[in-house]
Amino acid sequence: MDQTAYKTDFFVIKALEDGVKVIGLTRGTDTKFHHSEKLDKGEIMIAQFTEHTSAVKIRGRAVIQTAYGEMHSDADSTETNA
Ligand code: TRP
Repeated sequence: MDQTAYKTDFFVIKALEDGVKVIGLTRGTDTKFHHSEKLDKGEIMIAQFTEHTSAVKIRGRAVIQTAYGEMHSDADSTETNA
């Protein structure tokens, strides 16, 4: 089993409003959107980085938990631990 760190760490995204988008971007030379997931308020997505996904873009109000800490994506706030 491949224990590459990016494949073992999970991150959690909890939507704080309807229509939060979690967009997966491809690994490798080309950086393209390859998946878009829509979360409604209260929905949670638990995901990993994979050989296909090296970056994730989050649009909308959400709480994101990673091994590096918890952050809030929020259109009108710069608070990271509100
Ligand atoms: N098929 C995608 C992959 O294996 C699924 C995926 C994993 C994904 N992590 C993601 C999609 C994060 C969006 C965001 O890479």
